[in-house]
Amino acid sequence: MIKIGVLASGRGSNFQSIIDGIRGKEIDGRIVALIVDKPEAGAVERAQANGVPYFIVERKEFAGNGEMNRKIAEILEGKKVDLVVLAGYMRIVGKELLEKFRGRMINIHPALLPSFPGLDAQKQAFEHGVKVSGCTVHFVDEGTDTGPIIEQTPVYIGDCKDAHEVSERILPYEHETMRKVVSNFSKGKYVVEGRRVRYEHGL
Ligand code: GRF
Repeated sequence: MIKIGVLASGRGSNFQSIIDGIRGKEIDGRIVALIVDKPEAGAVERAQANGVPYFIVERKEFAGNGEMNRKIAEILEGKKVDLVVLAGYMRIVGKELLEKFRGRMINIHPALLPSFPGLDAQKQAFEHGVKVSGCTVHFVDEGTDTGPIIEQTPVYIGDCKDAHEVSERILPYEHETMRKVVSNFSKGKYVVEGRRVRYEHGL
């Protein structure tokens, strides 16, 4: 049983996918904290509906990013999380979080990294005209979407009419990939060698 902390900024469908994975017994874990940086984040309603403790940590309450990140680290350490999941969290985590959770902090990105890092990845892919995009779950490091890649799922987008359709097409695969990775964390471990990541069953 692993203790999971989730950081989100938006509607929280990836957060929901972890809730669903736990309920479906795919993930041997418990979400002990949801942390959002916006009170209006839809993820809050999902936490309330599913009895997940949540914390609203707004940037304006802090003198700087460092203080905000230290508060987030304090909450996560207080809950003794084993794994931190960035699920649509729109801030750079910063060294205060990295130094404490490196190697057990993951992010999901809606493109096949290293293609289309950063914001609006689905729009970038559509405008570039790729026929195949997808999603990536990776370890978080100092960069933006640059950490060692854990899992990727390809998705055909060649017939999508616009970037919104690309987002809608990829999203269910994000949820599936997210559930798979978090489930794996709960039943074994990912070993990082340089930039390569392999999975070992069994804790
Ligand atoms: C997802 O597409 C995720 O890949 C990206 O932001 C979106 C968040 O969606 N980082 P949700 O809040 O998980 O529904």
